[in-house]
Amino acid sequence: MDPAQQIAELTQRVTQLEEELMRAQRLSSVGALASSITHEFNNILTTVINYAKMGVRHQDEATRNKSFDRILSAAQRAAKITTGMLAYARNTTNRIEPNDLKRLLEDVLVLVQKDLQMHRIGVDLVAPDSVWAMANSSQIQQLLMNLIVNARQAMKENGRLRLVVRDNKAEGWAEIVVSDSGCGIPQEKLPFIFESFYTTKAPDERGQGGTGLGLALCRRIVEAHKGRIRVESEVGKGTTFTLKLPRSESPAGFIDTSAA
Ligand SMILES: Nc1ncnc2c1ncn2[C@@H]1O[C@H](COP(=O)(O)OP(=O)(O)OP(=O)(O)O)[C@@H](O)[C@H]1O
Ligand SMILES: [Mg+2]
Repeated sequence: MDPAQQIAELTQRVTQLEEELMRAQRLSSVGALASSITHEFNNILTTVINYAKMGVRHQDEATRNKSFDRILSAAQRAAKITTGMLAYARNTTNRIEPNDLKRLLEDVLVLVQKDLQMHRIGVDLVAPDSVWAMANSSQIQQLLMNLIVNARQAMKENGRLRLVVRDNKAEGWAEIVVSDSGCGIPQEKLPFIFESFYTTKAPDERGQGGTGLGLALCRRIVEAHKGRIRVESEVGKGTTFTLKLPRSESPAGFIDTSAA
């Protein structure tokens, strides 16, 4: 085989392996949410069972209608989570195209909400109706998931997670800021956090610690988007990650109600 062909084949193999790693990391980040999602489904089932019992016991129309209403909304809540989970796990597209960053963030929030709630973490979301960026939806959701899971893991109870989405027209960026009130990162460790396998998370009693791949993949994703990612941190105060992606105009046919 001639060297040029060999290089081409190796390059293709590396790209393929990178994609596989990205997919594996996406699935493992969902693992961090397993206990909160199980908890949520337990609550939903309890609601369904209790209202089904009530509807069976009481024959009057008003009670039955109320029971059906409650069962329906509980089931819809469950469907929202499973749909979100499947969409997240599946790599839906390879294209970088106009995407509303607020929508992508909200879809990730559906999955992490219960985990944040269980750890008593308050969320402040500051965003206009929509902020359009040139983005690959599944990669950006993976990146946001990694930043939010890291933020949660850095915080004790009663922490605050602040999420800002903004359109920086002047500089041509669509931006997302993820801030936590967690432990912070010492200045001398900041240069390493985006490196593969750098982690300070020791394995817990179930042997699950950090792999140190989360931020390394975030960096790859930002590079593929020709974007920027910046981190500021103060030990004991918290950490702020700022993501900048090339902005895009809202696609034709999309009515931006924020202008009204
Ligand atoms: N918001 C944050 N607050 C404090 N430290 C952070 C924060 N985000 C990242 N870090 C530090 O950076 C390290 C690397 O983060 P990264 O997401 O790459 O790996 P990890 O979270 O340890 O493991 P994984 O994401 O694979 O589960 C973390 O171990 C932690 O020390
Ligand atoms: Mg992480």
